[in-house]
Amino acid sequence: KRLVVLVSGSGTNLQALLDALAAEGAEGYGAEIVAVGADRDSIAGLERAERAGLPTFVCRVKDFATREEWDRALAEATAAYEPDLVVSAGFMKIVGKEFLARFGGRFVNTHPALLPSFPGAHGVRDALAYGAKVTGCTVHFVDDGVDTGPIIAQGVVEVRDEDDASALHERIKEVERRLLVDVVGRLARNGYRIEGRKVVIQ
Ligand code: GRF
Repeated sequence: KRLVVLVSGSGTNLQALLDALAAEGAEGYGAEIVAVGADRDSIAGLERAERAGLPTFVCRVKDFATREEWDRALAEATAAYEPDLVVSAGFMKIVGKEFLARFGGRFVNTHPALLPSFPGAHGVRDALAYGAKVTGCTVHFVDDGVDTGPIIAQGVVEVRDEDDASALHERIKEVERRLLVDVVGRLARNGYRIEGRKVVIQ
């Protein structure tokens, strides 16, 4: 299976996928990353892709007259690599109708909270501020909402009294990277069905 991974930052989730591929091979893992896309330049995520010899593309919102044109450009840049599965690994933009029309049902996102709790761009900070005792991460299919698509898997992380947002996020990411690698591999190797809000991996 062909994967395109979308990033916006440090790309440690991308790196976890790259490391799994290096260890297991595309055959063993069931997928290969054919390109990495981003919404901004000069981020570690793109450097990780380049170090792995992967093609990259950047679609910046500010380079387009409208959000719809950006969405279309992102969809076209992604489609050029003919992915079977698109993985948002810390991609911090909400995609639009065009992207979902092409990749809905095969577009997976990872979120650093236990959805439906604490959706959006500050899930770690919000869980901490709320006083949650456990939080975690969620891998889900992307639908037309924000972090609202069918949940595939979740991992639980305890919140410690001494946590600040970055310490908690680092601990969540340790679980998240393993969860994402496991889920993407299973989706790619086994195939899956989405039945309403339920995801069945064969
Ligand atoms: C991840 O925790 C992801 O869930 C969130 O931002 C973080 C990205 O981390 N949206 P990285 O870029 O994969 O290191």
